[in-house]
Amino acid sequence: MTAPVGELSAPLFPAGGWEGFSASMAAHAVSRRAAPVELPAWLDGLPPSLLPHGRAIIGPSDVPGFLDALFTAAGTPDDAGRAALRRDIYEVASGFARFLGISRVHIRLDKVTDDACWRFHRDNVRVRALCTYLGPGTQYAPDCWGPRAVAEQRDYDGLVCSAPRFAVVLLKGWKSPGHRAAVHRSPPVEGTGAVRLVLCLNEPPDAADWGGSCCDGAGSAPA
Ligand SMILES: [Fe+2]
Repeated sequence: MTAPVGELSAPLFPAGGWEGFSASMAAHAVSRRAAPVELPAWLDGLPPSLLPHGRAIIGPSDVPGFLDALFTAAGTPDDAGRAALRRDIYEVASGFARFLGISRVHIRLDKVTDDACWRFHRDNVRVRALCTYLGPGTQYAPDCWGPRAVAEQRDYDGLVCSAPRFAVVLLKGWKSPGHRAAVHRSPPVEGTGAVRLVLCLNEPPDAADWGGSCCDGAGSAPA
């Protein structure tokens, strides 16, 4: 099933907002949704060198302009697919800001070709949202399997879920109430030829965290 641009097939974020989600026992939430019709084929056909990537701390209304700058820098063709991606990221970032009741978001759009965040881990944030637009989705362990996944890493043979493409994955981190942090990782893609395009949304980090590149940092790379 597909949905027209801008018409989302499922709520992007839990209806109760952060207050409701933070009080729940769940460490993660996955919003499965249909993609805007233009996006899958357009992204699949785009040479990886033309994929936009970058980061900023901005208000939702500045997201389209921020993305236009990334598109220009990457040489992304100005067509209907590009407009659909810009609109979708704007919708997701705006939804994230409303969900948390914040006026600015730390937005990252990353092109991922390596295994930088392959280890099962929990993020050192309150909550994070991820959306994989291209390539394999973020992997996460069901809450009851999380400790084992972290302990065993490559030897872990328990249940692992992969977020569907275009799903918005909400992950609680260590700083969430009750510290019910979701165990997750980036799918290993190095050497496979796969390219991922991942949107990562956070609350604006403290100045000391800005520039962090580790998965466990507040300014971390996506998983
Ligand atoms: Fe992470």
